[in-house]
Order: sequence, then C-alpha cells, then structure tokens
Amino acid sequence: MTVAAASSQEILKPHLSIDGSSRLSGVLRVSGAKNSALVLMTASLLTEETVEISNIPNLTDIAGMKAILESLGVEVTRRGDRISLTAANLSSSQPPYELVNSLRASFFSIGPLLGRLGYARVPLPGGCRIGARPVVEHIRGLKSLGAIVNVDQGLVTASLPGGMRRLKGTEIVLDCPSVGATETILMATVLAEGKSTIENAAKEPEVQDLANLLNLMGAKISGAGNSTITIEGVERLHGCRDYSVIPDRIEAGTFLMAAAITRSTLKVKPVVPEHLSSVLQKLRDCGCDLNIDDDGITITPGDLRAVDVTTQPFPGFPTDLQAPFMSLMAIAKGTSVISEKIYENRMQHVAELQRMGASIRLEGSTAIVEGVPSLCGAPVTGSDLRASAAMVLAGLSAQGNTKVCGLKHLDRGYDDIEAKLLGVGARIERYSN
Ligand code: EPZ
Repeated sequence: MTVAAASSQEILKPHLSIDGSSRLSGVLRVSGAKNSALVLMTASLLTEETVEISNIPNLTDIAGMKAILESLGVEVTRRGDRISLTAANLSSSQPPYELVNSLRASFFSIGPLLGRLGYARVPLPGGCRIGARPVVEHIRGLKSLGAIVNVDQGLVTASLPGGMRRLKGTEIVLDCPSVGATETILMATVLAEGKSTIENAAKEPEVQDLANLLNLMGAKISGAGNSTITIEGVERLHGCRDYSVIPDRIEAGTFLMAAAITRSTLKVKPVVPEHLSSVLQKLRDCGCDLNIDDDGITITPGDLRAVDVTTQPFPGFPTDLQAPFMSLMAIAKGTSVISEKIYENRMQHVAELQRMGASIRLEGSTAIVEGVPSLCGAPVTGSDLRASAAMVLAGLSAQGNTKVCGLKHLDRGYDDIEAKLLGVGARIERYSN
C-alpha cells in the first residue's frame, strides 16, 4: 500500500489534522488530573453521605466512571467541572464487565466496596497495549486484611469470612510501588478495624490527593507521598463538600513539551512544580529556560540538545511522559537514550515517529534517538493515550501536514486538547467523520 493510499484511507477515520512548524504563544490551561479524579470518584463508595469534587476534567474516562458508579447505585450528578456523588443506597457490588474492561481505574473500586459492604465482585481488568498490568498486589493486600479473594472466569470476588464484620488492619508490604494497588488498599483500610501500614507504597501525587480527600471524609491517614503510609481504621466516613482535584501533571508536562518542540515561549498553568520535578529537570537539561511563579510555569526553549531518560516510579521521570518526550528528543541535537522501565510494551510510538522521519533504533524497551533537523508530516496513529499525545506534539513540530488517528485514546486523557492548542496559535482541526 502506498503512503498516498494509506493517507486517503486514514483520512476517513476521525483524526486531528495538524499543519506544523508554527510558533505558539500565550497560556495553556491545565485541567484536573485524570488519574486522580477517577480514583477520588470511587472513594465516594465509602460513605452514604454526599461527596462533592471540583476541577473534574471533561474526559470520556470520567463519563465511563460515572456510568460504572451509577451501575452500583451511586447517584452521580455533574455540573460543569463539579461532580456530586451519593452512595447512600448501593444496589450492587459488581460493576458490569463491559464498563470495567475499558477503564482500569474502576477495578480499584474493589477496595472501597469491600471496606463498606464486606463484599465485592469486580471483573479482572484486561491488560492493554502497554503491558499485562496484573493486579496481584491489589489482591495480596486485600487478603492480608483478612478478605477471602478468588479469581474465577475473569471475575475477582472478595468477601469477609463468616462472622467477620470488618477487615482487620495489618502490615502490608508491596512487592512493587504500584499506584493502583496503593490506592485500592488505602481505600480498604480506612474502615478496617485497627491500624494498618503500607510499606513500599507508591508516592505519586495522585495517591496523596486520595489520602487528602479521605482524611477530609474523616479517615486517619498519615505518610501519604512517602513509602510508608499509616492508617488508623475508623467506624465510618462522612461526606465532604467541594474537594478540588490536583492539576494534571501529565497534561502539564505534555504542554511544556509542546512549547519546547515548537520552540515557543508559553505559560502552562496551573502546575504544582514538585509534581513534575524530574520532568522540569530534563527540560532544563535539554536547553529550556523555566520561570516558575505562583500559579504556573513559563517555558522558553533554547537550542534543544539530547538528554537521556529512564522512566521510574515517582519522583522519577513518569512513564506517562516517555512518549511525548521522545517526540521532543527526535528533533534535539545529538543522541538520547530513552529507557522504559515501568511497562513492558510502551514503545509503539517509535514506528509512528519513524514514519515522520525520526531516526530511532529500538533495542527491547530502550530507544536510541538520533536527533534530526525536522520531522515530516504524515498520517500517523496513536496506539495508547500518551502515544497519541506524542504524535500531536510531533505534528505540531513537523514540516507539512500530519493526520493523527487514535482519538478515542486521546479523548480519554486530554480535555479538549485541540481547543487548548488552537487557543495558543496551533493550526489544528478535528475531523470526526
Ligand atoms: C497508574 O496505573 C496510572 N493509571 C497509569 O496511567 C500510570 O502509567 C501508572 O499508574 C504508573 O504511574 C491510573 O492511575 C488510572 P501501577 P496503575 O499499578 O495503577 C506493575 C495513563 O496513561 N504491577 O503503578 O495500573 C504493572 O504491570 C495511565 O494515564 C505489578 O507488577 O499502574 C506496571 O508494570 C497508563 N503488579 C507497574 O507495576 C501489580 O499488582 C506500574 O503499574 C500492579 C502493578
């Protein structure tokens, strides 16, 4: 198939058409964090009172989580960026497979369901394109708290043994600092009897955000954001009014890289700098000047030079920004080595960047990127949420037109990305045909 034929076929799919190499200017607004908002919504299962959360991003994943919680009997109303959740009358403890399968964060609801009802039956989340993504740590933690957990025919059933009214607090040591497992176990322990500790806990800001909400609801959690979290179980939690989700650090990092790759001075806000310290360091190392003020970051790119990156759990360089950063390194002077250590299959954007003229050699999950003067526009497809974002960045920088397919991935994690980029001068248009 010739490229021309491929491009005419791909034009038929919904895509973003981007005319590249235009400078951007102005301010890019960052929405609330997807990977926090989703989990905060499941925390509403822990009380019969109303939980109100603001700064909720407008994403398909949020709509998906709303549907899942409603299938359990939670009343969910959304007004603008505010969402109100009341789990007074839960009618089910088994979210439907077809909803859970597409939304990994919904599996985390097994923790609060077990903590609140003493029973939960949640479909095993499928792996996805980036890796197997097991939930062994989640299950081990729930078993340590006294639950009986069985996995059968794709369903995870967790229950309390006869006569046990509540989970029993204990010491839990995670084999790996899994974000989801830390969140699942945290939500299970807040109503458990007695004290629990989670060792080797994930330190991500989203974990801290969840602990802050739970404490506002009456939980007694200390140490979130460190590798040991301590929880004193309480009898019940109450609702809360107007908890605001933290800004999305991955969206902020993506937009800072959009400025760098188009050599544009841009302000990105709001940003919590300490949520992105490893990324800010890499942006400085590759030649960008960053001015941090009280609500955001202004980036002024210099001559881009290659730097190496290895993805790590927080506070290391986040895996969710590995693909966007590779787009940036594709046009930096010199050779960069980018290693993906979190997921076993998160290099699918390499082939798409090569189609745009990037010079990348892949050795397993390590990419050796030789910077080229510029990329050439082409029809490309994003294979997951962050790979799609990487292709948008590459298109913004490339000579000519790029058509980015894979919008169903992009819309899961970036709230109205084309409107935001249009607002700072990008030549980008969505074709939803
Ligand atoms: C969260 O996924 C995020 N998703 C991911 O964001 C993010 O990439 C990931 O954390 C790492 O930061 C949400 O929060 C909804 P993990 P999660 O459990 O919790 C292994 C995006 O693009 N692992 O920390 O599923 C696992 O295989 C998404 O926004 C086990 O081995 O991530 C992976 O290699 C993608 N056993 C690593 O840990 C387990 O029991 C990180 O997984 C659990 C995980």
